Amino acid sequence: MAGTEIDWAALTKQAVAAMRRAYAPYSDYQVGAAALVDDGRVVAGCNVENAAYGVALCAECGLVSQLHMSGGGRLTHLVCVNKAGEVIMPCGRCRQLLMESGGPDMQLMTSAGVRTMEEILPDSFGPHALDNV
Ligand code: THU
Repeated sequence: MAGTEIDWAALTKQAVAAMRRAYAPYSDYQVGAAALVDDGRVVAGCNVENAAYGVALCAECGLVSQLHMSGGGRLTHLVCVNKAGEVIMPCGRCRQLLMESGGPDMQLMTSAGVRTMEEILPDSFGPHALDNV
């Protein structure tokens, strides 16, 4: 979306709306994520916990699933929020997922401003690592 002004406030609103769908009875830490796709779509996700605590699904997992279920493409801009609507950083596992679906140039809103995936997951493992082995 080169040359397009990104409406981060609108994207954050969508993340907050997703957060309100979270199922997080164990941690009481509701998370919502929303992202723009390179064709202009918006995808979102919320965290979904489980009585078997370790199998909890992060909000970003649901978002990536919605990306593929709604036609694929590449994530270009993403924001994650907690239940107070504050911007949070994706966990390590989700950074890996987001790198695959967004690439190194995907922009992420952080409490320190907009940063790229390359900045928050440098020297990442990716599809290229599977070549020539
Ligand atoms: N969580 C997310 O949904 N995304 C993250 O990037 C960090 C953590 C969820 C998992 C769990 O349901 C809750 O937040 C507390 O860790």
